[in-house]
Amino acid sequence: MSAVRRAGVCGWPVAHSRSPLIHGYWLARYRLEGAYERFAVPPLGFADFAASIGVDGLVGANVTVPHKEAAFAACDRLTDSARATGAVNTLWREGGALWGDNTDVAGFLASLDAEAPGWRERVDSAVVLGAGGVARAIVQGLVSRGVERIAIVNRTPARAVALAERFAPAVRAATWDDLPQLLAPAGLLVNATILGMAGQPPLDVNLAALRPEAVVADVVYVPLATALVEAAWRRGCVAIGGLGMLLRQAAPGFARWFGKTPEVTAELRALVEADLRAGEKGRT
Ligand SMILES: NC(=O)c1ccc[n+]([C@@H]2O[C@H](COP(=O)([O-])OP(=O)(O)OC[C@H]3O[C@@H](n4cnc5c(N)ncnc54)[C@H](OP(=O)(O)O)[C@@H]3O)[C@@H](O)[C@H]2O)c1
Repeated sequence: MSAVRRAGVCGWPVAHSRSPLIHGYWLARYRLEGAYERFAVPPLGFADFAASIGVDGLVGANVTVPHKEAAFAACDRLTDSARATGAVNTLWREGGALWGDNTDVAGFLASLDAEAPGWRERVDSAVVLGAGGVARAIVQGLVSRGVERIAIVNRTPARAVALAERFAPAVRAATWDDLPQLLAPAGLLVNATILGMAGQPPLDVNLAALRPEAVVADVVYVPLATALVEAAWRRGCVAIGGLGMLLRQAAPGFARWFGKTPEVTAELRALVEADLRAGEKGRT
């Protein structure tokens, strides 16, 4: 191992990733000697990349699209969150074994805890829109906190059914037509689809049936306040965008690789918000 600890984000493509900004901020804030890089790794190169963890100062990595399932398969040991979701976004080596975690689970829960304090007491039932990788992490997080009734609504019904079967009996599959009946008693609505993201179709959900005491969370963070979040604010709900989750899912990896549990400060949030806004301007 070289003396300087190195980590990074591995994806294909990877240029868009905000992880270097987040980890770079923490390295500077805590005056740690270390580096966080971008690794553009095509699908066929992932096995070699995984094998390089633990060599030459590379202490671990974040994993993004399209490698999260390959990372799951490559690991010798998995955390409960990784096992439950079937996907890995954080890798490190320990005693020779390659370990994998899915920190989206903890990141989502930590963002709710921080930005919608007391949410759990208000939530008996939840509605999750989407059945992809992030929806799986969110459902795992809600189940781990004891939410007993979760309805999954997805464009492709078979994926909602598969997710519901994985987390039965707390979770069941439903349809978009069921939404008004599902929203009326729900304490939490989560958008875990790509809808509402810049460049994607809008998310068309009528919140008329939702109680103002309900909490709304959107995993989308471009734009920072989505149309769903703004509509929920207009109803008087506590509503949070996806940036808090993005920042908080990064913390467990940083703590493992660099030995310091980092804080999600207002300064870090402002830094990433500015970068996202600049990216949006570049897009239009
Ligand atoms: N805040 C964070 O920290 C964070 C972290 C990771 C990802 N994200 C965001 O989370 C979102 C989902 O990511 P993912 O990894 O779960 O993606 P994914 O596995 O590809 O799942 C995408 C989901 O969106 C649905 N969808 C896509 N196009 C649709 C359309 N035109 N109409 C209706 N539904 C549509 C898919 O439905 P089908 O099953 O029918 O295809 C699926 O449920 C993305 O916006 C991503 O940027 C946020």
